Amino acid sequence: MENLMNEILKCLYERKSIRLFTEQEITKEQKDEILDAAIQAPTAGNQGLYTILEIENQELKNTLSVLCDNQPFIAKAKLVLVFLADCQKWFNAYRYAKADYREPELGDLIIACEDAMIAAQNAVIAAESLGLGSCYIGDILENCEKITKELRLSKYVFPVAMVVFGYPTPQQKARIKPKRFPKKYMVQKNTYSDYSEKETRDMFLGRNEENDYEFERYIKAFCTRKYTSEFAMELNRSVNKYMQAYKKE
Ligand SMILES: Cc1cc2nc3c(=O)[nH]c(=O)nc-3n(C[C@H](O)[C@H](O)[C@H](O)COP(=O)(O)O)c2cc1C
Repeated sequence: MENLMNEILKCLYERKSIRLFTEQEITKEQKDEILDAAIQAPTAGNQGLYTILEIENQELKNTLSVLCDNQPFIAKAKLVLVFLADCQKWFNAYRYAKADYREPELGDLIIACEDAMIAAQNAVIAAESLGLGSCYIGDILENCEKITKELRLSKYVFPVAMVVFGYPTPQQKARIKPKRFPKKYMVQKNTYSDYSEKETRDMFLGRNEENDYEFERYIKAFCTRKYTSEFAMELNRSVNKYMQAYKKE
C-alpha cells in the first residue's frame, strides 16, 4: 500500500495532550508562529469571528487554574491562550456603520465557536511542529460569572476553549497516547444511523488495558466521573448562563 505519511500527517498522529511542562520558556518568535498559524485557519465568510486572549499575567493564570476545576498545570504553562467565540466585533461594526442590524443569536454563536476551535487546533498543530506540547482545557466553560469578570468579557464574547502550551517533560513525552475508537465507530457513509447496543458494546472493547474490563462497570464509572459529576453539572449551568444573551424569544 502506498505510504502517504508526510510531516503534517506525522504531527497529527504524534500530537497528544501534554500536562507537565519543563521550565524552558517559549520564545517570542515561537509564540508569534503559533498565533500567526492560528490566524491562518479558515473562518466563516473570512469574518474572523474569534479573538485569542493570551494570558500573560501570572496571577490571572493562577486564578484560571483554580476556576478551571483546579488544574495546577495551567498556572505552570508557558503560554496560555483562551479562544473566544467573538460575536461582539461584527455586532459593533454593524452598529458603528448604522447597518440594519440585529442582536447575535445561537446560530451566529455556533459559527463563531467553529471559527475559534479551528484556529485553536491550528495553534496546537503549529506548536507540535515546533516541538511544543499543549493541552485543551474544557473547564474554561465553567464559572461563567467569575470568568466573565476576570477576563472582562463583553456580552457577545464566549470563551469556547483554552489551550496551554509548554515544553513536555520527558515523562510526558514518553506517555503513550490514548487509543482512539476504531474508524468504523467514527465514520459513517451518507446518512446517519444510531449505533446498536451490540455496536456500542463492541465499540468500547480494547479501550481499556485492564483484563477484567466490563462494559457496565466502565461506563457507570465514566458516567459518574464525567457526565453527572459536579463539574459536568457546573459546566452545563455555566454554559446555559452564557447562552442567555443569544436566546431570543
Ligand atoms: C474540548 C477539549 C477539552 C479538554 N479539556 C481538558 C481538561 O480540562 N483537562 C485536561 O487535562 N485535558 C483536557 N482535554 C484533553 C483530553 O482529555 C485529551 O485530548 C484526550 O484524553 C485524548 O488524549 P490525547 O489528547 O493525549 O490524545 C480536553 C480536550 C478537548 C478536545
